[in-house]
Amino acid sequence: MTSYLLRGVSLLGATPRDLVIADGRISDKPDAEEIIDADGLVALPGLVDLHTHLREPGREDAETVETGSRSAALGGYTAVFAMANTSPVADTAGVVEQVWRLGREAGLVDVQPIGAVTVGLAGKQLAELGAMATSAANVRIFSDDGHCVADPRLMRRALEYVKAFDGIIAQHAEEPRLTEGAQMHEGEVSTRLGLTGWPAVAEEAIIARDVLLAEHVGSRLHVCHVSTAGSVEVLRQAKARGVRVTAEVTPHHLLLTDELAASYDPVYKVNPPLRTASDVEALRAALVEGVIDIVATDHAPHAVEDKECEWAYARPGMVGLETALPVVLSVLGEQWDLIAERMSRTPARIAGLTGHGTGLAVGDPANLTLVDPSARRVVDPAELASRSRNTPYAGTTLPGRIVATFLRGEPTVLDGKAVK
Ligand code: DOR
Ligand code: ZN
Repeated sequence: MTSYLLRGVSLLGATPRDLVIADGRISDKPDAEEIIDADGLVALPGLVDLHTHLREPGREDAETVETGSRSAALGGYTAVFAMANTSPVADTAGVVEQVWRLGREAGLVDVQPIGAVTVGLAGKQLAELGAMATSAANVRIFSDDGHCVADPRLMRRALEYVKAFDGIIAQHAEEPRLTEGAQMHEGEVSTRLGLTGWPAVAEEAIIARDVLLAEHVGSRLHVCHVSTAGSVEVLRQAKARGVRVTAEVTPHHLLLTDELAASYDPVYKVNPPLRTASDVEALRAALVEGVIDIVATDHAPHAVEDKECEWAYARPGMVGLETALPVVLSVLGEQWDLIAERMSRTPARIAGLTGHGTGLAVGDPANLTLVDPSARRVVDPAELASRSRNTPYAGTTLPGRIVATFLRGEPTVLDGKAVK
């Protein structure tokens, strides 16, 4: 295993120093075989994404575990959690083990499967949560993401079930009766465009219900892709009461608004939908404050035919792994410790993932990424490593370039290029 000396690297923005990586760990050895000129580069613990759609098995035309892993490494990630809405659904030990094994074979990031809460994501019957938890994939997070676990009795049972092993139910909060036929955020823009709206209350009502259920049961709830100012207030109150709830926000909900739907370009169609500027403002403040714990990408690759069609027929979702850090950098500025907290340390802690999101002290596993904060990049969909092209940032200039990523001391990205 090659050892590396990162010359003049700034750990989280601190005074430049040398950092040695040897035998897969941060080392106190004085030198190394390879020297990387890290002048002007910032080292962060490898990013951890709690919400990624890798599409394998079933939609390998949109993404595979390998292409998604490469996309993640290029985005500075060393671990991603793969959502269960594959085909077949990841609702058995067999499927989660398959995804886990594919991740190991790709070897670019740690791929941790998320198990479905209900059989086939159908919302009728609990999936084999215990079998997935005790499988080789060691599943601790369960989600029907893409769908809401709408039945309160089933949600309660799921929360009770995972309590035994300190598992988490990650909810896609969307009251389905309130979003029937919805195409975009319900508000002034949807009225003007004549599109059926997805009201904020459809998200807020489910979060309010679920924090009460989590409180009643004493279990852990995680709220996926929080998108409204009202949801932030529900979460704030729940946390103040000591409810065991954590929450994520996506980069796109931190930057983009529902005005973009006026273009009728389906690249802006996503679920939950892009909201208003005042929602964006509230989400940013909540992320800084910690009411929203983490940034998660909701990387949702889609094949061309599912995106380049009429708005109403397009699937919701955006790719996000390769642009997440630049978007967050544009929103938060160079607050490196906060970025590490929201994109690496806290997601690792929520998931109980050891070896990631560390302080990069001597002896820690060398899971890290090097960023050039002074670089600017115009996003070109053709250059993405993801198999899909549905980025909302095409032609946008974003700050920051991921120069290198290391997974347990092995480079997965060098000079901004994937190593394999
Ligand atoms: O926009 C979305 N896309 N939201 C979801 O909840 C699911 C995801 C997908 O799987 O494409
Ligand atoms: Zn979702």
